[in-house]
Amino acid sequence: MKVLILYGGRSGEHEVSCLSAASVLRHLNPRRYTPLLCGITREGHWFLQEDSRVQAVLQGADLQVHPGAEVSIVPAKGFQAGGALLDLDMVFPVLHGTFGEDGTVQGLFEMTGVPYVGSGVLGSSLGMDKEKAKQVWQYEGIPVVPFRSFVPEDHQEARGDIPGKTLRRLWQEWTAALQVPLFVKPARAGSSVGITKVHSFQELAPAMKTALSFDSKVLIEKAVTAKEIECSVVGNLAPRAFIPGEVEPHHEFYDYEAKYIDPDGAALIIPARIPEKDQHRIMELAVRAYRACEARGLARVDFFFHEDRGELYLNEINTMPGFTHISMFSKMCEAGGLEYSAVLDELIALGLQ
Ligand code: ADP
Ligand code: DAL
Ligand code: MG
Repeated sequence: MKVLILYGGRSGEHEVSCLSAASVLRHLNPRRYTPLLCGITREGHWFLQEDSRVQAVLQGADLQVHPGAEVSIVPAKGFQAGGALLDLDMVFPVLHGTFGEDGTVQGLFEMTGVPYVGSGVLGSSLGMDKEKAKQVWQYEGIPVVPFRSFVPEDHQEARGDIPGKTLRRLWQEWTAALQVPLFVKPARAGSSVGITKVHSFQELAPAMKTALSFDSKVLIEKAVTAKEIECSVVGNLAPRAFIPGEVEPHHEFYDYEAKYIDPDGAALIIPARIPEKDQHRIMELAVRAYRACEARGLARVDFFFHEDRGELYLNEINTMPGFTHISMFSKMCEAGGLEYSAVLDELIALGLQ
């Protein structure tokens, strides 16, 4: 079966996607699949990678995006490279964030008719938009972190230059509802890019500016002090959740450095150190959240849980979670008996359904 792996991309998670995609490539069973690589540059150009690059990555080289034959979409036909239609059975978009995990690229796949791994247009875009996902979950009675959202009212605000008077009013409104500190984040981003924990009014303006530099909508949340619990879910119509794991950040929160740069940035503990009945409650909520977003294939659903206070909040869903063999998503599947290559087999089979 010929599988086209898409990676890189225009989002702030380009490098993370290269790591995830290298792992996927190395773990695809060579007796079943012939992999092709399509790298997407930060500017959005799609290049088919030469087979020598594929072989180099299989031998352990880092995966990067190199220039090559330009790949384009042909509606109702498929993917074309260098003027010729590619012979493909499946697309595997190992892309994180904007233009990868948000329904845009999934729309292109739908136009081609080529089957693909993971969520479709709606599931991806809902999963990407933290505000809309929370509204859907609230409607379903799933507890979410208390939040407000901010959409600029003019170009000046969109640039992040929010007048002091407006900011003062928002600060009063938000802290009255959500207390201090606050989390300020781009509504549609990932890997903690653009997120600030705000402890005082002085920190609000730069936090809003940072968030607005990544997205045109900002989410403001109550800062929860609780364990961070993550749960892998796999499936289409009858998704199943795996025993959850726990992330213990060694930074003030699970920021980009803690996730990818600092080797001691966080401890990943599987299973999560919480009572079994709460593990099962979280698994059940993860499946409900997944179905409510109409996710398909795979997702990692993330929670905050405080045992003594009995607090459980759904934080977010990631429809293409970090996907190296040492990422939480894969490790939780492995702990549940589904090792990395078998996850890939299952995801490809689900993509064909
Ligand atoms: P991303 O999609 O970038 O991963 P998250 O909403 O998961 O965005 O936030 C990244 C990290 O920031 C979380 O893993 C957590 O450590 C911290 N965080 C985010 N929101 C909150 C919150 N409301 N309360 C406490 N910590 C938070
Ligand atoms: N957005 C990153 C890849 C994650 O949630 O794992
Ligand atoms: Mg997260």
